Amino acid sequence: MEVKIDRLDHQGRGIAMMDKVTFIPDALPGEIVDIEITESKSKYNVGEVKNYIQKSDVRIKPVCPYYHVCGGCDLMHISYDEEVKYKENKIKNIMQRYAGLTNVSKIVRCQTELGYRNKVTFKVDKKLGIYKKDSHDITYIDNCMLISEQMNSYIEIINKMDLTGVYEVVIRESDNADMIIFKCNDDVKLDVDDLEANVVRYYDRKYKTLKGNNYIIDKIGDLSYKISPSSFFQVNSHQVKRLYDLVLENLELKNTDKVLDLYCGTGTIGLYVSRYCSDVFGIEINEDAIKDANYNKKLNDIDNIFFTVGDSKIIKDISYKANKIIVDPPRAGLDKKVIDEILNINPETLVYVSCDPITLARDLNILKNNYTVEKIIPVDMFPRTYHVETVCKLKRK
Ligand SMILES: C[S@@+](CC[C@H](N)C(=O)[O-])C[C@H]1O[C@@H](n2cnc3c(N)ncnc32)[C@H](O)[C@@H]1O
Repeated sequence: MEVKIDRLDHQGRGIAMMDKVTFIPDALPGEIVDIEITESKSKYNVGEVKNYIQKSDVRIKPVCPYYHVCGGCDLMHISYDEEVKYKENKIKNIMQRYAGLTNVSKIVRCQTELGYRNKVTFKVDKKLGIYKKDSHDITYIDNCMLISEQMNSYIEIINKMDLTGVYEVVIRESDNADMIIFKCNDDVKLDVDDLEANVVRYYDRKYKTLKGNNYIIDKIGDLSYKISPSSFFQVNSHQVKRLYDLVLENLELKNTDKVLDLYCGTGTIGLYVSRYCSDVFGIEINEDAIKDANYNKKLNDIDNIFFTVGDSKIIKDISYKANKIIVDPPRAGLDKKVIDEILNINPETLVYVSCDPITLARDLNILKNNYTVEKIIPVDMFPRTYHVETVCKLKRK
């Protein structure tokens, strides 16, 4: 069936308006394509292109040979210039539609569109691969263009190992060393002699060091951060300093300010801004990340920051009197109880870092009753995928 593509959806898929809205991967606005419906739901269809009748002028040949069979990237069939235009418009549309906000700034581009990731997760079925889009079928790959040559070099070595019992392999890269994590179903013995990296096995909810250290140390600006296997760390090493500089700029710190860093991970943002304020208090649910955060405090010789393990909802129980708050939640955004507590604390400035614009818009729509959303800045942390980070500055009304 022949259809014309109207626009792109939030996941970079083409949209055709038929009797039902139809999502078509790898189809661009203006293109006329022959499709087959692969999924039919009550409110929408999903289609697959069988033949391109008229191609868009902005279509390019993807640089990665696995692009059409690997679920890792979404936008390699357009240039990076087109990608950032799409991402900026996506944030504009979402903010307008779900929060009634129109003041979205120009997107902050990433200078490195390939080889930027410091972490990759491979699925394992005898060999390493990545899930196909919306599927649990694995595409075996021997090279990923979003990671460095050094990280790619481990793939061949790991594929030669007996991976029976291993379901996932995570490779993390840092300034000082790399770390490879084997996630296993059984208490298997792994021969890791050929891997020149820290090697850790995860089984039965525990990490066991098989070689080297059970951590890596990375740098952001002039600060160093210890990262344990389960701790979160921003995946784009080339753009993370820009992201944290935006947080710092928008906090407009004075040396009397007291800053609450919610969802603080290994203390990354808190430590980064602590040098410009009176003190910082960080809250994070992952105990290992808080151990890292306390280590990082000493590593960087910083003494005006304090951390506690807990769900961010515990802010109602702490006596810390913050006048500025940073939140950097996972994709689910802020729990309603956390929003209520933030409103209770009533800080003069709130900087919201988000990796999901939909939940961000939902939360801003509530916060805007008490706060003016002064800035909404899209930051490209994930080139060649549809994901976009956003930094927002909110000022008490
Ligand atoms: C997007 S990461 C941000 C980490 C840190 N700000 C950074 O930039 O490295 C979100 C963090 O929130 C933590 N987290 C998830 N749910 C949480 C909760 N309910 N309460 C507190 N922390 C939580 C995760 O463990 C993770 O470290």
